[in-house]
Amino acid sequence: MENHPNKPFYDRISRFYDGIAHSSERKATEEGWRLLSVKPGERILEIGFGTGHSLVEFARLVGATGHVTGVDVSSGMGEVASEKMAEAGVEDRVTIDLAAVPPLACPDASFDAVFLSFTLELFPLNEIPEVLAEVRRVLKPGGRCGVVCMDQPAGPENENLMEQTYEWMHRHFPHIVDCQPIPAVELLEQSGFRVGEVTRMDIWGLAVAAVVADSP
Ligand SMILES: C[S@@+](CC[C@H](N)C(=O)[O-])C[C@H]1O[C@@H](n2cnc3c(N)ncnc32)[C@H](O)[C@@H]1O
Repeated sequence: MENHPNKPFYDRISRFYDGIAHSSERKATEEGWRLLSVKPGERILEIGFGTGHSLVEFARLVGATGHVTGVDVSSGMGEVASEKMAEAGVEDRVTIDLAAVPPLACPDASFDAVFLSFTLELFPLNEIPEVLAEVRRVLKPGGRCGVVCMDQPAGPENENLMEQTYEWMHRHFPHIVDCQPIPAVELLEQSGFRVGEVTRMDIWGLAVAAVVADSP
């Protein structure tokens, strides 16, 4: 994990992340929470928990009988998220695992739902099937996967100028723009998920999707 290429960047920005990104992404993340529909007593996994907003929300929703696990490669994010959970008084319901995904160090069929917000698009395109295969492995039969991400719904030829510029930045300056729009629905379907509700929105002219899918 120490040598993972995404770690130094997220360690550096962990104390500023909420100011830089979370304020603009919050609405989309909250839509992802709504679609995932977490219930009391459930076991939830979040991959790439960042500063921990979703961990706190899920910990409240699962209540005293449920449990939330978060995995993230950044120890800086781990510190910020731990402080947030202590403030909210939910740290006894949350386990934090500092590790790089894939793989997931969790037993098969151990979660009711897995959530990724603004994280799936950080993986190289050819690694996403491996990540989603791991998500399916750790989900119970019928378990849900919630994804909120920069979306490429209709193929690269239909992108607007803002999206094309963003992708150009990602190709040429990946250390500054580390993510790229991805065809989330298609990727989930190719990995064997059954896609349910999808909400599309935009953030500063960039397409974003919140998707919920289940693992048959
Ligand atoms: C763009 S941030 C999103 C954070 C949070 N989900 C949110 O919506 O605010 C992506 C997070 O994924 C983590 N991350 C990036 N690559 C990872 C990997 N390969 N394994 C685990 N975590 C990773 C980063 O450290 C960071 O906290």
